[in-house]
Amino acid sequence: MRTVEIRTAPAYNVHIGSGLLGQCGSFIAQVHGPCLAVLVTDSFVDMIYSSSVVHSLKETGYRVEKFVIPAGEKSKSMETYMKLLSFLAELGVTRSDLIVALGGGVVGDLAGFAAATYLRGMDFIQLPTSFLAQVDSSVGGKTAVDLPQGKNLVGAFWQPRLVLCDVKCLATLSMETLADGLGETIKYGMIADAEILRILQGDGLRDEAESVIYRCVKIKADVVEADERDNGPRQLLNFGHTAGHAIEKHSRFTLTHGRAVAIGMAVVTRACVKRGMVDRSVLDVLESLLKKNGLSDRCTLSAAELARGALADKKRRGESITLVVPASLGKCVLFPVSTADLEAFFQDGL
Ligand SMILES: NC(=O)c1ccc[n+]([C@@H]2O[C@H](COP(=O)([O-])OP(=O)(O)OC[C@H]3O[C@@H](n4cnc5c(N)ncnc54)[C@H](O)[C@@H]3O)[C@@H](O)[C@H]2O)c1
Ligand SMILES: [Zn+2]
Repeated sequence: MRTVEIRTAPAYNVHIGSGLLGQCGSFIAQVHGPCLAVLVTDSFVDMIYSSSVVHSLKETGYRVEKFVIPAGEKSKSMETYMKLLSFLAELGVTRSDLIVALGGGVVGDLAGFAAATYLRGMDFIQLPTSFLAQVDSSVGGKTAVDLPQGKNLVGAFWQPRLVLCDVKCLATLSMETLADGLGETIKYGMIADAEILRILQGDGLRDEAESVIYRCVKIKADVVEADERDNGPRQLLNFGHTAGHAIEKHSRFTLTHGRAVAIGMAVVTRACVKRGMVDRSVLDVLESLLKKNGLSDRCTLSAAELARGALADKKRRGESITLVVPASLGKCVLFPVSTADLEAFFQDGL
């Protein structure tokens, strides 16, 4: 097992290892005493993993209630959020109780937002089961639900008390969902750790999942500690996301997040190569990794559509937009582009 400490306020540990779900009770007991634990999970994950989690929690002295949402992004809504709040209120959950999020990024974002807001905030634990949730969404304290107008428009910064990444969960993921997480993983390699890219170029995740997740979480920890509320350095995590969000939205979310980010990274890197900002070999590595992992690097949107989508994004500030661009393999930097030049920049990447 490996551990990354996230030194936010409060600080918490991310443990990464095999079989952690079945022992979750004893890990949780180290950060929160016996209480009512409300397990939030989705219909699919529930069938595979709830029983061992519930067993471990009960064995350690927790009372357990379960709230199951339908699997899928549609559940990250105000409607499900309200149902969860009502469930908590009807149970008489108090601030000294606990929410336990078992599932992918949808469950983590929704349950985390409920934990951030119910009774002005209560403790929650992340038990991420998808690859994307383990390498990315369970760490860092961003919680949210979607509105009909856009994704993640309502949310809060609220750190979990503990994150347990059980690599055994990866065995039951569909190829589709695994590829989504690989998109974000390649992003981590590109922004800060060429070793991740090297591992993925080799045999891939087979024996190295624990090490790859550890490396991604470590990068996220460094960035989040420097910028808990996303005002500056944390923007590095947005590599591929400005174009990616536009692509995701344009597809009406039929294209999943990691896949859209993969295309976004390719567009930006190609533009940088064309403008002489980065060596061609960086693009070659990125393109071959995307291909090897079942991710597309081709964008079907026009440069105008990409620019329009990017400018509508909530992360824009003033007359320029800050893109994240590769400087070398394993290193990205922030790069402001004026809104007037954005379309031409994307055109160079198509
Ligand atoms: N908070 C953040 O910082 C952050 C970062 C990135 C993404 N996100 C959010 O995360 C969400 C996407 O996360 P996701 O890709 O995990 O989606 P998800 O939660 O919808 O999970 C994808 C699918 O995989 C299934 N699944 C999960 N774990 C499984 C397992 N071990 N075995 C079999 N099936 C399993 C789920 O039931 C679901 O059908 C998006 O809403 C995105 O906005 C948040
Ligand atoms: Zn992302």
